[in-house]
Amino acid sequence: MLQLKQISKNFGGLPALSEVTFTVPKGQLTALIGPNGAGKSTLINCITGVLEPSSGQIHFQNQQITALPAYKISRMGISRTFQNLKIFPRLTVLENILTGLTCEGGNSMLMAMLRLPYLRHRERKLKLRAMDALDRFGLADKINWPAGALAYGDKKRVELARATVGQPQLILLDEPVAGLNAEETAAVGEQLRLLRSAGHTMLLVEHDMALVMEIADQVVVLDSGKCIATGSPDEVRQNPLVLEAYLGRMDATA
Ligand SMILES: Nc1ncnc2c1ncn2[C@@H]1O[C@H](COP(=O)(O)OP(=O)(O)OP(=O)(O)O)[C@@H](O)[C@H]1O
Ligand SMILES: [Mg+2]
Repeated sequence: MLQLKQISKNFGGLPALSEVTFTVPKGQLTALIGPNGAGKSTLINCITGVLEPSSGQIHFQNQQITALPAYKISRMGISRTFQNLKIFPRLTVLENILTGLTCEGGNSMLMAMLRLPYLRHRERKLKLRAMDALDRFGLADKINWPAGALAYGDKKRVELARATVGQPQLILLDEPVAGLNAEETAAVGEQLRLLRSAGHTMLLVEHDMALVMEIADQVVVLDSGKCIATGSPDEVRQNPLVLEAYLGRMDATA
């Protein structure tokens, strides 16, 4: 579904990514792991058009998407969450989720102002889908809250609901359980499992190794901007390069 070919990204001459190559197969959950500063978020930003790679190519469903603007990539069916939450604090929870469906609402300003009946009907359908997503993430009782007033864990779930409500082709998740307590982590883990069994394709950046090793079909390991291993959770766990770069710490936290 997604192919990364020799992606490099430099910031002011310093390499954050060096010739990273791997593929994300359709219908699978690929985990992207690596120590702090390994380049995981930079890679997600390159895939989603937030950053332009310095070199290399990205193909999504056999189409070249390298350096396309973020809105075009989003319209092609790639959604994401952010490591540092990006929600609209003054919009309600429901409105935040509806922004994940904007591609499907696509009407001109004039049509929206005319309030044609079929548009109202479509708006109702979008709202029902948004409310269904909020229900799945346990936010149904907070739909009219301003999103900025939510607790941290609920904000993370608003992002997850927004990223999944539009039924995207590919979901990129940058540390979705970071900062959540054990109960919240288990609930999000369950949602990820459900998305995976429903056949969604996901790329998951996560430091919670217990979750990664349990849920991932494939694990890609970055270290100092380089891809040092790719394989099943078991293969990666036993890879000497990974052990050296990372697993000592992972075993301690798993
Ligand atoms: N906008 C930027 N300008 C300059 N340097 C950056 C920028 N974004 C990231 N970097 C640098 O690129 C490297 C990779 O950072 P990145 O945030 O991708 O790591 P990460 O693997 O996501 O780490 P973490 O696990 O802490 O989230 C780091 O050295 C970081 O300081
Ligand atoms: Mg990061």
